[in-house]
Formats: sequence, C-alpha cells, structure tokens
Amino acid sequence: MTYPTRLALFVSVAALLSAAAWQACSAGDAPQAPTAVTNQHPWTVPDINTLPDDTWGKTVRYGRDLINKTSTLIGPEVRDASKRFAGNNLDCQNCHVEGGAKEFGLPLVGVSAKFPSYFARTGRVGTLEDRIQGCMERSMNGKPLPIDGAEMTALVSYMKFLSTGRAIGSDTFGSDAGRIKELQRAADPVKGRTVYANTCAGCHGNDGQGQRNGAVGDAKGYLFPPLWGPDSFNDGAGMDKLINTANFVHSDMPEGTSWKNPVVSREDAWEVAAYVISQPRPAMANLDKDYPNRLEKPIDTPYGPYADTFSAEQHKYGPFGPIAAAIRALDANREQPHD
Ligand code: HEC
Ligand code: HEC
Repeated sequence: MTYPTRLALFVSVAALLSAAAWQACSAGDAPQAPTAVTNQHPWTVPDINTLPDDTWGKTVRYGRDLINKTSTLIGPEVRDASKRFAGNNLDCQNCHVEGGAKEFGLPLVGVSAKFPSYFARTGRVGTLEDRIQGCMERSMNGKPLPIDGAEMTALVSYMKFLSTGRAIGSDTFGSDAGRIKELQRAADPVKGRTVYANTCAGCHGNDGQGQRNGAVGDAKGYLFPPLWGPDSFNDGAGMDKLINTANFVHSDMPEGTSWKNPVVSREDAWEVAAYVISQPRPAMANLDKDYPNRLEKPIDTPYGPYADTFSAEQHKYGPFGPIAAAIRALDANREQPHD
C-alpha cells in the first residue's frame, strides 16, 4: 500500500480505535500508521491443533511445515533433487515470523482475503499463488513451485486456514511489519554498522552469515538466518527495501520482540536496515522489467529505472519524502497497487 493511502487510512482508523489501542499505536516508537481495522482486533489466529487429522488437516499442516521448515522440505540441500525449489536455506518463517501468525511480523493471516489483486510489480492482476512465487524467486532466491503440485496446494490451504473469518477484500490490522516514521535524511549504513555490532551480531554473526542448525549440506536450515551473502534473499526481494527492513527490525528484532515493545529505537532501526541492505547478496536477472508503470514503483526500490530524477542511492537510503512528493505531482490519479 502506498504512503498517501496509508496516511489517509491512518486518519480514519484513528477515529475507529479505542482510546487505549490508539495510545498503543501512537506511543513513542510504535508503528505510526497501521492498516485499516476492518477485521478482528485484537489479533486472533485460528488454532491449528483444532483441525482433525483428515485430508484437509494434513494438507494445512503440510503447508505450515513448508513455512516453518522450508529448507528441510524444498531447500537446495534436500536429498530429492526434484524438490529443490528454494535456492537458499532460509525458511519462510525467518521473515513470516511464528509460522506467519505474528502481528506485524509479516503475517500470512488474512492473505487469502487479499488476492487476486493488482500487482504493480507486473502491471497485472495476480493470484495468491503468483504472490507465493514472488517470494520463491526473490526471498528464497529459487524457482517457482509447480502450480498444481502438493507444495503449492498445501501453502495456499494453510493461508486459507490462517485467514479463517477474514472477509474477502478486507484489510487485516497487523499485516506487514508496521510503518515507523521516516527519517528526514538518508539512513546511514556507517552508523548502522555500530548498531549491528552491538545488537544483531550476537545472533546473525559479525559477518551476517547467521548460524546453521547443523552443517552445510544437511538441509537443516538456520538457527539464526543469514542477512546477506550467497545464502540470503536476492536483490529483488521485499526485504532488500529499506522501509520493509527498518519496520521489520523495529517490530520484530531481536527475536521475540513485539511491535508494542520495540527494542531497537526508530532511528537505529533505519540505520541498521541501511547497513543490512548495503551488504552484498545474490543478484536477480531482469529487475529493470519490474513495475512497468514506473509511477507505481515503491519509492524505496533500490534499482531503476525510475519515473523521477532522484538517484538510485536516494531511492535506496532516503530521504523518501521528496521522492513521494515528486511522484504525486507526476500522477495524482494512479491506480493504488497492492504491492
Ligand atoms: C527474506 C524474507 C522473506 C522470506 C524468506 C519469505 N518472504 Fe514472503 N514476503 C516478504 C516480504 C518483505 C513481503 C512483503 C511485501 C513485499 O514484498 O514488499 C512478503 C510477502 C509475502 C506474501 C504476501 C503477503 C501479503 O500480506 O500480501 C506471501 C503470500 C508470501 N510472502 C509468502 C512467502 C512464502 C510462501 C515464503 C517461503 C516459500 C516466503 N514468503 C518467504 C519477505 C519474505
Ligand atoms: C536473539 C537473536 C537475534 C538477534 C539479537 C537479532 N535477530 Fe534477527 N533474526 C533472528 C531470528 C531467529 C530470525 C528469524 C525470525 C524469528 O524467528 O524471529 C531473525 C530474522 C531476521 C531477519 C529476516 C530474515 C533474514 O534472513 O533476513 C532480519 C532482516 C533480521 N533478523 C535482522 C536483524 C537485525 C538488523 C538485528 C539487530 C537489530 C537482529 N536481527 C537481531 C534472531 C535474532
């Protein structure tokens, strides 16, 4: 969702929220502009243990396992070469935290209510399956799943289960990773390096390569995932965009952090995110083909071409305010894309 829309929603949402919830949202460093509250709130997630062990229950549980143990089931090191769909040893839940069930932890709760929808990245309407393939090819640096295979069916089934009771077309409060206030200047990777050393390296390693559960080749994935390098997400991934990464860090890092009690300050979240995205990672081909309507390109997309004249550097690290203003001036009536 784009910045102006969110801002507009924020104003209307503020009126809907109870005084207490409003305080939680506006207090200090908590995410500033949550998505619309057109759904259940407080956060609710259906309990997978209530499902019987029938065909549907088994399929939903296989989907849950694919999110939690992606590396073990479809990673590049699995014994059955025909199942090596992911290109790195990440698990979906390294980003879609707690099996995709965590509020502002990039949850998968409610996603079945969102798709099909217009994708700015392709300029077409895409399905939930298409969106999953996006993460397979970018976040997982891999190949698309067979569209009619057991894995895709299970993932979509698990997401439908997680979306139980969410009305089609409604927004889910707590989806994505929040929206902390932007800095009025560029985020600084040099400052971020110090934040990283003090707050992140203990788990993710001084070299950002994380810590494996076992040994290279055993398909057991990571205890602490790598943040850059050859076994990380590629440069076309959502997590390689500053706004996503800063919000994720603020709402979810270190491990176990809740968006209601952030550990990393707002400013440090921007700096450390800048440091993470300044590091090397696998390159995706043909990124220049993304966002055929350049006016719809998210302001923090680190690769061109752009509709505006701002540098790739400013698109990567900010400040974003002037870019957003320039885009608004270029086309006030553009279609509001989903992502
Ligand atoms: C490195 C982090 C990362 C990993 C790993 C990852 N994703 Fe994502 N995913 C994201 C981000 C960030 C977004 C949000 C939007 C964006 O791309 O800007 C997202 C969005 C999604 C969405 C759409 C959610 C919405 O609310 O619209 C789905 C569905 C999804 N991912 C599925 C998966 C699946 C399935 C896997 C594993 C096969 C996976 N993702 C692995 C980072 C990741
Ligand atoms: C206590 C250990 C711990 C600390 C400290 C920690 N992380 Fe994480 N991080 C994790 C774990 C575990 C995950 C996987 C998601 C989860 O289970 O919460 C993760 C996931 C991530 C991800 C998404 C997955 C990926 O591979 O990119 C990013 C980005 C990230 N952390 C950045 C940071 C940053 C930046 C800091 C410092 C501000 C930090 N983390 C501090 C444990 C930690």
